[in-house]
Amino acid sequence: MDCKSCNSDRVLDIFDLAIQRVNYESKLFIITDKLIGCQYINRNQAYTPACLERKMHMSKYIITDAVPLKGRVRVSGAKNSVLPIIAASLLTDGQCTIQDIPYLSDVRIMCDLLRSLGADAEFSCNNTKLLIKSKGLNEIYAPYELVSKMRASFMVMGPLLARIGKAKISFPGGCAIGTRPVDLHLKGFSAMGAEIHHEHGYIYATVKDKLKGANIYLDFPSVGATENIMTAAVLADGQTIIENSAIEPEVVDLANFLTAMGADIKGAGTDTIKINGVEKLKGTEYSVIPDRIEAGTYMIAAAITHGDVVIDNIVPDHVKPVTAKLREAGVEISEELSSVRVKCNDCIKAVDIKTHPYPGFPTDMQAQMTSLMCMASGTSMIIETIFENRFMHVGELNRMGANIKIDGRSAIIEGRPKLTGAQVKATDLRAGAAMILAGLCADGITEITDIEHIERGYVNIHEKLQSLGAKIQKIDD
Ligand code: UD1
Repeated sequence: MDCKSCNSDRVLDIFDLAIQRVNYESKLFIITDKLIGCQYINRNQAYTPACLERKMHMSKYIITDAVPLKGRVRVSGAKNSVLPIIAASLLTDGQCTIQDIPYLSDVRIMCDLLRSLGADAEFSCNNTKLLIKSKGLNEIYAPYELVSKMRASFMVMGPLLARIGKAKISFPGGCAIGTRPVDLHLKGFSAMGAEIHHEHGYIYATVKDKLKGANIYLDFPSVGATENIMTAAVLADGQTIIENSAIEPEVVDLANFLTAMGADIKGAGTDTIKINGVEKLKGTEYSVIPDRIEAGTYMIAAAITHGDVVIDNIVPDHVKPVTAKLREAGVEISEELSSVRVKCNDCIKAVDIKTHPYPGFPTDMQAQMTSLMCMASGTSMIIETIFENRFMHVGELNRMGANIKIDGRSAIIEGRPKLTGAQVKATDLRAGAAMILAGLCADGITEITDIEHIERGYVNIHEKLQSLGAKIQKIDD
């Protein structure tokens, strides 16, 4: 049998192009939420691994017209909450039921990682509910193929050390937005008694007896380090104090989940978290918070198209930094208990932005705000302080007629009356969202490729935008 694309006889049999990731070394194909071995499925759909990877990257979004968005849109559960929560469910042999799951490729990868460690993870209720049973954990290994595709895989280290006392996890390495080290995670685990060494791209961590509570001061309030250390500390002997901890809502959400499992955590949401280790945790049922970055992205979509949109399932406090900047830019925003209405009739004013840890302006909203500022009257400056290389969207926006100059960690944007549609790339998740926003207000056709990055973080984004009237289509090759 030959490959449909290149006629090579080194083929893989696949079910359809819904495949998310391929690990052809271990002959493991991850097809939406099912794992399928390298067996015959449909002889008419056979590809070599390389052709398959290429095909997976060929879907694109096409935006044909700029129209003011109108209507209501519901935000999904937070990706950045659910990933550490799924990892933390490894801490118990009881059953965890997680509700309001955003059914994203990153979530599916995290579930695959859990399965490869010996846990069961099953989606139900239209993929909005996830049942995890980690009774038979028998693996301590997170391979390069998964960690390099999704850094949050590293979040299993804390739970594995706490429950099994061992972990072998691929070094995540750099990514499209910066070098992103994990030194703060590892310093925390070492302070708690773990022995750590690196070899051949892997981090090996072992605990002789049990992790011991420790006082840990983070040089930077890292979200991931705070979460990973917290999940290690909940089953440790004695008290752990994390100082200069991250205070992001997702850290609080994880702490609430752990508390529901029986953990003793005080101070989550402040810069000092105190955790008293307990003997055992139990299974629980939990709903994740709404995704504040998805919410902020729809707020900007309403503003950039001069629309009128109500965004439901939102915690208005979590999007305060975005709300404040949009109001400064002249956008009308009214808040209810769990929704916000965003209306924009006037021309958008240029505003300056500097990214900071919460409750500062989120780095994950920087690219989207850059798109908005391209359409503002006046000059704005955006300073990125969290990641050193988070301006990849700028080159793409300039292809659409924007006038942005980069100077170190600053982008200087001279607003233009219009952008023009072009072929552009989603260089990473939020950069991709910025391309969609630019396309929604551009003259002519915008074609966005590499959209698998966008689909890592936005549930059905093209369908949600279509429901607001956007002229966006997803084209599957
Ligand atoms: C999380 C979010 C990501 C968001 C980021 C900042 C998830 C899955 N991802 O990423 O969307 O952009 O927070 O809000 O929740 N750092 C170190 N050493 C470390 C850890 C981090 O130097 O050990 C540095 C990073 O390189 C970066 C800064 O700290 O410059 C912030 O990173 P961190 O808060 O850890 O981000 P993540 O948890 O990776």
